[in-house]
Parts: sequence; structure tokens; C-alpha cells
Amino acid sequence: MAYQNITVEARDGVAIVTVNRPDKLNALNDRTVDELDAAFTAIGADAAIGGVILTGAGEKAFVAGADIAELATQSPVDGKERSIRGQKVLDRIGDLGKPVIAAVNGFALGGGCELAMACHLRIASDNARLGTPEVKLGIMCGYAGTQRLPRLVGKGRAFEMLLTGEMVDAQEALRIGLVNRVVPPDKLMAEAEALLRKMLANGPVSLRFTIEAVNAGLEMPLAEAQYLEATLFGLLCTTDDMKEGTRAFLEKRPPKFTGR
Ligand code: COA
Repeated sequence: MAYQNITVEARDGVAIVTVNRPDKLNALNDRTVDELDAAFTAIGADAAIGGVILTGAGEKAFVAGADIAELATQSPVDGKERSIRGQKVLDRIGDLGKPVIAAVNGFALGGGCELAMACHLRIASDNARLGTPEVKLGIMCGYAGTQRLPRLVGKGRAFEMLLTGEMVDAQEALRIGLVNRVVPPDKLMAEAEALLRKMLANGPVSLRFTIEAVNAGLEMPLAEAQYLEATLFGLLCTTDDMKEGTRAFLEKRPPKFTGR
């Protein structure tokens, strides 16, 4: 698929996906959602890519939401389909099996906040503002914001954001656990990349199974989730990476993981 509204750059095992509609504050129209789906599908299948940084073009916004111009004319059937489509694309990102960091470089509102929450963690520039203002438009979150926000920040804080529609600044987002770190805007991409590369120094299968255990496990009763963890742990014992990682420790040298 030829991209019009996003860019994808790969360097040394890291893909940088940038939503690129700065004149519309990177709002997610249907085409952009389709392009994100295609890009993350391709990245998921590309063994040369270990992880992803997702950001927005320009200095003002990560993503300022779903494209309100498209929402304004939607029928109930369109609305339901758009919501299901967006949820699936965001699930693809969350379940990618490779770490995805959102570099939140400004407004992350509505679908933009939901997109950031679908990533495994979030680093924000100190001028970032996050929120779920859908209720101000007479709608509600449709890309799983009503589910991911309480899971991230707790029910009470989620209700405050979801029901007021008010934004929080980067420091408040940090305080409530909506973002992991806050840095000056000119350090954002370097900080995201340094953190991602720390993860990519670890075994790729370990990362994949850890993501699976957290994502799937949080939706299960504890006993089943623990059984899933034990099963994935057992599977890792069949890998070259486990042999290499443990041997390297005992031989006091850095491991060389192959993802096998
Ligand atoms: N959908 C479509 N277009 C959007 C958009 C969105 N979610 N967010 C911003 N834009 C467009 C604006 O319409 C404007 O386009 P124009 O220049 O053609 O008129 C352009 O992006 C710049 O936005 P503008 O509102 O002029 O910037 P601002 O600095 O005054 O305000 C915001 C910034 C983020 C506070 C404001 O744009 C906003 O409230 N956006 C909508 C946020 C929202 O409700 N998101 C949830 C959607 S479900």
C-alpha cells in the first residue's frame, strides 16, 4: 500500500511510524487508520524490525483524534463499523509481539489518546496534552478508550477524564500513570529510541511472550493467567535464546540473541 498519511522509516531494527497530516493535527481519517493497519501488519511480519516508535508529524500534535469531518456525517452503522475497525487496528498494535512506544509530541486527544494507550508505553514531551474529549462532541470513545484508560490509570481517574472530556498536561499524565516519562520536546525521539533499544537488547521471543502474557493474562482469571505464563515460560525453555542468555550470564559475557 502506498502511504499518503503516514511515513514509515526503518533504521537498524527500529521502525519509526509517523502520522503525517500536520495541517489537521494528524487526525485519524479512515484512510490513515487503513494505512496504520497496513504498516503495522508489514512490521509484524518483518523479522528485521524489532520494535516501533509511533509519533505524529509537526510540533503541535501526536494525533488530535478521529477526523471529526468524517464523524460528522456518519450513520449508526458507519459509526459502529468505524469503531470496530479502529479497535481492531489498535489491537494489532498492542498485540504486535514487538515493543511499540508512543512518542507523544503534543495533543493526544480522543482517538489519538486511544492510539497512544494501545502502545506498550508512552513517552511524552513536556508540552503534550492528553484527553478523551469525545463527550464534548456528543459521542464517546470508540477505539477502546473506555477500556484501556481505566486499565491504565484506574477507574476513578478514568471516569474523571472520560466524563469531563478535559485534557491533562504531561506532568499530570505522568502522575496518574498515563505516560511513563516526560522529556523536553527536543529529547523525545532520542529518549524513545534509547528506551526501545534497551528492550531490543533482550531476547525477541522473551519480549513477544511477555507482551502476550501481559495482554492476554490481564483479561483472564489469575489462575488461568498464571497457567498461561507458565506455559509460555516452558516454551521459552525450548529456544536457543534461553540457552544463549543463561550461558552468556555464566560465562560473564553479553548474550547474542537470534530470536530462535
Ligand atoms: N478532526 C479533524 N480535524 C481536526 C481535528 C480532528 N480531530 N483536530 C484538529 N483538526 C483540524 C482543525 O479543524 C484545523 O483545520 P483547519 O485549519 O482546516 O480549520 C486544524 O486541524 C488545526 O486545528 P485548530 O483547531 O485550528 O488548532 P488549535 O490550536 O486552535 O486547537 C485543538 C487545537 C487540539 C484544541 C483543537 O484542534 C481540537 O479541539 N481538536 C479536536 C479534538 C477532539 O475533539 N478530538 C476527538 C475527536 S473524536
